[in-house]
Amino acid sequence: MSKNTPSRYHPLQVGLHWLVVLLIFSAFVLGKIMSQLPNEPAKITLLAIHMTLGIVTLLAVIVRFIARFRLPQPAHATTGNAFLDWLGKLVHYGLYVFVFLMAVSGISLSMQAGLMPVVFGGSGAPLPADFFDFTARMLHGFVAPALLLLVVVHAGAALYHQFVLKDNLLARMWHGN
Ligand code: HEM
Repeated sequence: MSKNTPSRYHPLQVGLHWLVVLLIFSAFVLGKIMSQLPNEPAKITLLAIHMTLGIVTLLAVIVRFIARFRLPQPAHATTGNAFLDWLGKLVHYGLYVFVFLMAVSGISLSMQAGLMPVVFGGSGAPLPADFFDFTARMLHGFVAPALLLLVVVHAGAALYHQFVLKDNLLARMWHGN
């Protein structure tokens, strides 16, 4: 390891990582709840919260992606198995791509369905009868389980490092000396 390679992530990356975890979890749960509800006016507040969480997630992920190339990073974790190490890198990039797709498909949906003035502008217009009338709703619904799968693999790998390989990997994504 070069002397410029830190042993843990920069505090900005650590903060953004856990913020994005919280945002995605909240947007996901709220999205699932909303998709069970009829498109009545009472749903507008939930939509406003969900859409805000999703847009903030997109901004946080863009800042993280830029910071990734600007800040010194710890060396890529190794399991001792070349295939698993390659898979780890692939999942990391996949997470960026799928969070991006999730947010962009949500924004496309809100544009196709004319949601912005209804949700944030108080236009008083009714919500569309069914979001599935819009193609972006299908995409949003397909990307959601794919993102969930990547998150499960990613979290599972972190726990595997922490508790099976016992390399204390989680400390890299936390604050300390
Ligand atoms: C990373 C961010 C996001 C996540 C994790 C997320 C998650 C979800 C999930 C899980 C659903 C339900 C999907 C299903 O069961 O088929 C959903 C629905 C929805 N999302 Fe998102 N979303 C995100 C971003 C956004 C954004 C940025 C917008 C708009 C600006 C948006 C607007 C919507 C709308 C309008 C629905 C449909 C609700 C319904 O069917 O009643 N989402 N979202």
